[in-house]
Amino acid sequence: MFDSLELSAQEREQLTLRVHEYAQRYLQELPAAPASWELIEDMAVATLAAPPSDHGVPIDELLRKVSVALESGINTASGKFLSYIPSGGIYAAAVGRLLGAVVNRYTGGSHGAPGLIALEQGVVRWMCDVFDLPEAASGVLFSGGSTANLTATVAARSRIGDDFSHGVVYASERAHHSVVKAARIAGVHPDRIRAVRADSQLRLDTAELQSAIASDLAAGLAPMLVVASAGTTDTGTIDPLEECAEIAAQGGAWFHVDAAYGGFFALTARGRSRFSGVELADSITVDAHKSLFLPFGVGGLLVRNETTLMDALEGRGAYMQDVPDHAMAIPNYFAMGPELTRPARGLETWLALHLHGVDAFRNELDRMIDLAEWAAAELGRIDGIEIAAEPELSIVTFRADAGDDVSQRIAAHMNASRQVHVSSTTINGLFHIRLAFLSQRTTQDVAATALELVSEALAKR
Ligand SMILES: Cc1ncc(COP(=O)(O)O)c(C=O)c1O
Repeated sequence: MFDSLELSAQEREQLTLRVHEYAQRYLQELPAAPASWELIEDMAVATLAAPPSDHGVPIDELLRKVSVALESGINTASGKFLSYIPSGGIYAAAVGRLLGAVVNRYTGGSHGAPGLIALEQGVVRWMCDVFDLPEAASGVLFSGGSTANLTATVAARSRIGDDFSHGVVYASERAHHSVVKAARIAGVHPDRIRAVRADSQLRLDTAELQSAIASDLAAGLAPMLVVASAGTTDTGTIDPLEECAEIAAQGGAWFHVDAAYGGFFALTARGRSRFSGVELADSITVDAHKSLFLPFGVGGLLVRNETTLMDALEGRGAYMQDVPDHAMAIPNYFAMGPELTRPARGLETWLALHLHGVDAFRNELDRMIDLAEWAAAELGRIDGIEIAAEPELSIVTFRADAGDDVSQRIAAHMNASRQVHVSSTTINGLFHIRLAFLSQRTTQDVAATALELVSEALAKR
């Protein structure tokens, strides 16, 4: 279709226009689109997975294939997406991502794009301030919470030395699975990973944590890492951060807060008051693609002391001898994490934050808490429904007290309607349904529809 990989100005304009028109139509039709579709048919998979031809194909034909690809699975861009952890996919950040790819500057090391890194550091510093971390704090934007949790684990591991076979990791049994996965990838033996029991409120039980650490110390082991959640995936529960920080410090362990889901609720008065103790963390995982409403692909790790990351991860090859030393204002991100080449994640985050202003995010997060509180109160009024825990952030988790069969039927009824999409979890051996509010596109009407569907399913029994 095109004569060269380098498009002419006119070709660029035409291509951008076609994609722009497609995106506009997509977003205009989104409110009426279903929350999910059937799984993709084998025939469609075969067509979509066809290899590229030797000669190019017109963009309109390709966009038709994109439409086929999009009409399967869960409509995660929709405000009806209430399952797992929604991601707002705000347009400002999508445009920022396009800009970042067009300018294609190198943000792995400080020399390639010091200006873009300065923008990114401004974002990171702002994030550190959101959690009241000290001056020496810093961080890196990664692809998501899993990479951030892994990097924090490696930093904690490095603090106890090259032989970490005696190092123990502690996390609540309700922590995100990426925490245990991170420990495994970091080479921590399964025998050295403790799943600390959660209490009746589903919070990490600090008495259990204390006694696990005491018995490990008595056995000659070294508490290496304590992980607390500032918003669990299942219920949005916040672990007792202050107490966890104290216990970790007494045991000599690194204290990590996994705030991948909940993190930016700290912008709201309600969220910040519930995060008391987060400022004591050695590191904090955040996900801008969760509670900052960005499109999938931007998470981050904040560390109390920048040098702890460098000690664990600094390293370079001879071919990098021209790269200046790391400096805090314009850091070498390659020295602070597993990635070398990386996209300009800071640019899209910066653009979205500066374009909208922080209040826009704060207000939306407040609205998400309101929706969850409203939904919990309404669910509490439905006979036969019980809530796992009062929502602390924006997730409501509930079940039918008649048992798992009924709960499963309610979830199936909700999803079959395609007016909302919900996911489930198991708490204390019982099937629970989750409503997660974290999209700027989720309206009060969507929440009301979800509750009507619950009542409808119960009435059908
Ligand atoms: C509490 C928590 N931690 C970590 C993660 C992993 O984050 P990501 O999916 O961005 O890798 C998630 C994802 O839902 C999460 O909810």
